[in-house]
Amino acid sequence: MHAPGPPSPEALRAWAVSLVDAREEERLRIARGMHDELGQLLTALQLELASLALVAKEPAQAQRIVSMKALIDETMVAVRRISDDLRPLMLDDLGLNAAVESLARTAASRMGIEVTVRHDEADPPIQPSVATALYRIVQEALTNVARHAHATDVSIDLRMQGREIVLKVEDNGVGLPEDALERTGSWGLRGLLERVNLCGGALVLENAPGSGARMTVRLPIDAAGGSA
Ligand SMILES: Nc1ncnc2c1ncn2[C@@H]1O[C@H](COP(=O)(O)OP(=O)(O)O)[C@@H](O)[C@H]1O
Ligand SMILES: [Mg+2]
Repeated sequence: MHAPGPPSPEALRAWAVSLVDAREEERLRIARGMHDELGQLLTALQLELASLALVAKEPAQAQRIVSMKALIDETMVAVRRISDDLRPLMLDDLGLNAAVESLARTAASRMGIEVTVRHDEADPPIQPSVATALYRIVQEALTNVARHAHATDVSIDLRMQGREIVLKVEDNGVGLPEDALERTGSWGLRGLLERVNLCGGALVLENAPGSGARMTVRLPIDAAGGSA
């Protein structure tokens, strides 16, 4: 009998894809559990406290109830944030296009600026992990606009071009500094670059003449890796 040879590149790639998918499924399960179960329990606690507030006799008791309600509100926000960090449930519930639109709406109302989104009619046929990567990239790009750009307009364009999905985020702010890629945060531009490379894609950062920063990401639609 022959000893088995080393696994083929195709087998290794399939294995890597299945690991990424398994991790994404696990994150989805935990995020869903946090969001649904903890969310329901915390809502029930709020209701219990509201009925307790009706029968509280002492002002000191009423005061305690108010601060407990505030604590529960904070806990709800934290649960939502942690769950969203694990896996943005909107991606599974609504699809990538609608999730990106929702990010844009939130960013627009937070910053008081115009954020326009253009995308194909249908969601792109990509792996959940790739949709997650694109969602995170848009999230980071919008956070950067809020932090650094002083822009009044942002446009997001998400479209299929042949076998690639192309994401463009452009603002009309101050533009990127020369050393943008040397300054880093965990989901900063360097993190995006690594994520895009892992998916076998390409990232271009530039300043459009006479306007602000422009980021272009191209990912092959059959990319598998790089869930966040
Ligand atoms: N849209 C933008 N407009 C202008 N400058 C930007 C923009 N996005 C990023 N930058 C610059 O690039 C740097 C690196 O960005 P990033 O890696 O996301 O790190 P962080 O946001 O944590 O500072 C920022 O510190 C900022 O100077
Ligand atoms: Mg940043």
